[in-house]
Amino acid sequence: MAPIRVPRALETDRLVLRPRSVDEAATYRRLWTERDLRVPAHRRIDADGRPTVADVAGQLADEPGLLAVRRRDTAEVIGYCGLIDHADAPPDEPELAFELLRSAHGRGYATEAGQAVVGWARESSCPRLWATVWDWNVASRRVLEKLGFHETGTVVARSVDGRSLLTVREL
Ligand SMILES: CC(C)(COP(=O)(O)OP(=O)(O)OC[C@H]1O[C@@H](n2cnc3c(N)ncnc32)[C@H](O)[C@@H]1OP(=O)(O)O)[C@@H](O)C(=O)NCCC(=O)NCCS
Repeated sequence: MAPIRVPRALETDRLVLRPRSVDEAATYRRLWTERDLRVPAHRRIDADGRPTVADVAGQLADEPGLLAVRRRDTAEVIGYCGLIDHADAPPDEPELAFELLRSAHGRGYATEAGQAVVGWARESSCPRLWATVWDWNVASRRVLEKLGFHETGTVVARSVDGRSLLTVREL
């Protein structure tokens, strides 16, 4: 099966999700600066300040299924949510990923955006989605639970701070 088609927009009560654009790269870099110190080093800003905003802008096209999450009321881009194709996974079984600015946490936005993306995957005839989550990341584990994912018991990575858990959502 071909990779699933990226929509022009997904709309929810409070959010609009659209393909990301390079003029939003500073927001996506800010997410890097806000990451928990337990997130592996290759996913955090290094001692030289990389990735820079330009680096982040240049990488956006690598993951076209990750969509900008924009609030309808303020028009602010608060993060991303979407699907990632992996070369070592079937093209119709992508990964769900989401990350929001700290200022936007705690208002149900990740769950609302995730529900729209799960709906997109279902309409694209994906049989299932998967996601990985660190065991210490209770907010994200809760979001995945609310989206209907279940933890499989498979550990895909370990670090000094914890275990990365595989979760799956049948569609
Ligand atoms: C995970 C993240 C996306 C959540 O965004 P959000 O918009 O605040 O999430 P929601 O409001 O939709 O839901 C969060 C849930 O976690 C719960 N929660 C948050 N912090 C918690 C904590 N410390 N302990 C227990 N539950 C917690 C909330 O109460 C809520 O559950 P509820 O609706 O049952 O009350 C956001 O914290 C984030 O971007 N984190 C960094 C990136 C990340 O972890 N990405 C996912 C990788 S798998």
